[in-house]
Amino acid sequence: MHVIIMGPPGAGKGTQAEKIVNEFSLVHVSTGDMFRAAIKNETEMGLKAKEYIDKGELVPDEIVVGVVKERLSRPDCQEGVLLDGFPRTLEQAEALDDVMSELNMKTDAVISIDVDEDELLNRLTGRRVCRNCGTTYHINFNPPKVRNICDHCGGELYQRSDDTVETVKERLNVYKKQTLPMIDYYKRGGVFASIDGSRDIDEVFADVASYLRDVQENTKDK
Ligand code: AP5
Ligand code: MG
Repeated sequence: MHVIIMGPPGAGKGTQAEKIVNEFSLVHVSTGDMFRAAIKNETEMGLKAKEYIDKGELVPDEIVVGVVKERLSRPDCQEGVLLDGFPRTLEQAEALDDVMSELNMKTDAVISIDVDEDELLNRLTGRRVCRNCGTTYHINFNPPKVRNICDHCGGELYQRSDDTVETVKERLNVYKKQTLPMIDYYKRGGVFASIDGSRDIDEVFADVASYLRDVQENTKDK
């Protein structure tokens, strides 16, 4: 099963993704996480991507598509993938179709997590992430047991450099202008589901999981 999870910055893509990949044994492919790893390792691609990420802009399609193509070509992706944060332009969606067909894959489901803008701002400015294992927390909505320490690995929590109010506003504008128009492409393809992401994490996941179970059943029949 090959699934895309989309939605505005802070909607809860990464939070839901952690649960989805465990439940459905999918490989989590997050372009944002891949860029942050490349920035940490100071690779050429990472340094280029950082210029855009820090401004809240999208990294150019040719860079992103190359990164995703390389990742999807690895054998672990054949059984099932959850794409988080990719595609996010119509051009990327079309490029993904080409890459998938080259690799004998297809998109089985696209889940959009929908949340109001005020709530997104609260979620992003209160987000904290483990420097070591990447687990995501929120200072109020999903706090760690011990302040600033990861429950899973004891790592230190940090605030993402693009989670400032200014950059978040730009990311939300970019989402509306460049990513929302992509939704029609998937609606026409008949694989699109919109899920109310304003409820608590487990309630959202219950809906996501129930939808994906149906998709999984249908995928098996084919
Ligand atoms: P990326 O890392 O993908 O960021 P994003 O899309 O802006 O989304 P976020 O990761 O910020 O939010 P999320 O939806 O994952 O929310 P989370 O689960 O963490 O991309 C970063 C940058 O990389 C982009 O701006 C761009 O520059 C570049 N990039 C990446 N992909 C690209 C592409 N394809 N093309 C071009 N450029 C690309 O949750 C947020 C917070 O809310 C957390 O604190 C969490 O604990 C909390 N929370 C989650 N769910 C709930 C809930 N139900 N109730 C209460 N709190 C909740
Ligand atoms: Mg994320």
